[in-house]
Amino acid sequence: MKKLNILNTLSILGRYYKKKLFEIYSSYRKEYGDTFMVPGLFGKRNVVFSFDPEIYEKIYRTEGIWPIRRDLEVVHHYRRVLNPHIFTKGSGLITDQGEAWAYLRTTTNPVMLNPKIIKFYIPRIDNIVQEFVEKIKSIRDPNTFEVPDNFANNISYWAMESTCMIALDTQLGLINHAEKNPEAKEVIDISQQSFELICELTFEPSLWKIIPTTKYKKFIENFDKVTNLIVKYIDAAIERLENDPDSEKPGSEKSVLERLLKIDREVAIALAIDFLFAGVETTSSALTGCLLGLSQNPKSQDILRSEILKILPQKDTHLNADKMKNLPYLRACIKEALRCFPVIIGHFRSTGSNLVFNGYRIPKETDVSMPSQMLLWDEKFYPRPNEFIPERWLRDVEKAAECPRAANVNPFIYLPFGFGPRACIGRRISELELEIALCRLIRNYYVKFDYPEKISYKTTVFNAPDFEQKFNFKDVEV
Ligand code: HEM
Repeated sequence: MKKLNILNTLSILGRYYKKKLFEIYSSYRKEYGDTFMVPGLFGKRNVVFSFDPEIYEKIYRTEGIWPIRRDLEVVHHYRRVLNPHIFTKGSGLITDQGEAWAYLRTTTNPVMLNPKIIKFYIPRIDNIVQEFVEKIKSIRDPNTFEVPDNFANNISYWAMESTCMIALDTQLGLINHAEKNPEAKEVIDISQQSFELICELTFEPSLWKIIPTTKYKKFIENFDKVTNLIVKYIDAAIERLENDPDSEKPGSEKSVLERLLKIDREVAIALAIDFLFAGVETTSSALTGCLLGLSQNPKSQDILRSEILKILPQKDTHLNADKMKNLPYLRACIKEALRCFPVIIGHFRSTGSNLVFNGYRIPKETDVSMPSQMLLWDEKFYPRPNEFIPERWLRDVEKAAECPRAANVNPFIYLPFGFGPRACIGRRISELELEIALCRLIRNYYVKFDYPEKISYKTTVFNAPDFEQKFNFKDVEV
């Protein structure tokens, strides 16, 4: 197997220094082929890179019941080595492995993946979205209907507000009063900065395991702020719930936080931190992708609006689980947005058994990076890859007849929420958030975006939109 010379490529003098991760991976692929090894430096492990979906399938099929995803070592180190007094039951779902991970995951699955819980959140999520819809009215230009350049902040506030409601049972009032809550606003800013640092400490040659480098110290400082603030919010939420006379009434529905607290306070803390870490930037990025796809494809937007009008004939019609059941075009739009504007560059696993990749023997516990983003945009797998075509995801073959079908593609390429026992635990909640947001936004507004040349994404732990989000929201009159 070809080995990459990482010092030569990533160092200050290297060809790829300061390039976007997507460009670096694409160049690696061109130069070294579909499978190659990046040697570990300064105490890091070797990582095999693969752009071959058949290898992805082999890995997932043999990963076992406790899959290992060892990609955020510096976060694990922060939690377990530096702050074991906070993370007493493990470092969290994102960073724990083996039995410690399995304990957290089996505790959380019945709460986060319970359809009753998901239904319970519909009105709450809808309230937040309606606030967001009204906010757009107040910030857009009254003549052009264009929102300000920093609309990305408003999307982040919506995502933070929704995730806080799940993780902390708290509404921070960020959508309308971000200035009154500078601490929460800081969490968003610091998190974005921290993702960059995590990425640099993870993917670039760094001595942080040997000596505390400047980036490492900055990362610790940031994470201290975020962690302390979240612990403060959780303590406040716990106190509020403990003093709520309604919470113990028979038949009263319990929120995610209440259910987790019933199991264990420390588990609830670790998970709330994980949810904020994994739920805000991802959901913001996904909604931005949906709005971009729909704004650049007015025909798709019209089809979607007709579907939504059937369940929301009036702008203030209530949403409920029944109405949300049959929305195939909405779901196809979200799927296509996650293909065109993927939230993550790819997946990461350690092999669960000894495997053979294209004739090379890969021992058990080898770290493998699967940057599937390149394949999602590859003509070989998705014909007309640069076009936003929701129809490719429709099951209704008649409606989808005119377009390239996604159903015929290797399913291990398109895994926006991962795969297997370690797949995203927030999937159902984030899909619901996106569905409700799009229902209300497209019901209320014609969304446009007239600046195609400005679109670019920055890749850290997640792909975050990195452009002025000058969307245009004109009222739908019906
Ligand atoms: C569109 C939004 C989102 C996307 C695209 C996304 C994607 C992902 C992906 C790809 C993984 C890794 C899966 C794997 O390794 O197989 C993951 C893990 C995870 N996600 Fe999400 N996610 C989203 C939203 C959320 C939300 C809203 C939450 C929490 C409320 C969340 C919580 C988590 C957690 C805790 C993990 C770690 C699970 C584990 O290792 O057991 N995610 N997510």
